[in-house]
Amino acid sequence: MPTHSRRKIKVITYGTFDLFHYGHLKILERAAALGDKLIVAVSTDEFNLVKGKECYYPFEQRADIVQAIEWVDEVIAEENWNQKVDDILEHKIDILVMGDDWKGKFDHLSAYCDVVYLPRTEGISTTIIKHDLSKV
Ligand code: CTP
Repeated sequence: MPTHSRRKIKVITYGTFDLFHYGHLKILERAAALGDKLIVAVSTDEFNLVKGKECYYPFEQRADIVQAIEWVDEVIAEENWNQKVDDILEHKIDILVMGDDWKGKFDHLSAYCDVVYLPRTEGISTTIIKHDLSKV
C-alpha cells in the first residue's frame, strides 16, 4: 500500500455568472469532475464594464451564488484579462477550463497548465434570458 496520498488536481475556470442558469451549473459540474478542487474566478463589476457587459447582479451576489454550488471550493475575483498566469501559479492550477465559445483563445496558457475547452450547454445564456424576459 502506498503511504503517500496522490496530489490533488486543481481546476480553475472563469466567468461572469450573471442570472445564474443551467448552462453555468453544468459547466461547473463538468469542470469539477476533471479534478479534486475547483476554483472559480468571477468577473468583477469593474472588469465587466471593460468587457462591455453590465450585470444584473453585483459581484458580491454573483460570487455568493457560485460559492454556494457544492462543486465549487473557492471563488476569487477576476479583475483583468492578464491575471490568468498569476492565478495558475499562485493556486498551483493543473487544468484551466473554459467554455468552447473561447476555443483557441487561451492555448498560450498551456505552457503553464492543461487548457480544456468544454462544450457549452445549448440554448441558454444570460443574454438569451435577458432577451426573452424583455418580451414579457
Ligand atoms: N456557459 C456554458 N453554457 C452556456 C452558457 C455559459 O457552458 N449555455 C459557460 C461559459 O462557456 C463560461 C461560463 O459558463 O465558461 C460562464 O459564462 P458566462 O459568460 O457568465 O455566461 P453566458 O450565459 O454565456 O453570458 P452572456 O450571455 O452574458 O455572454
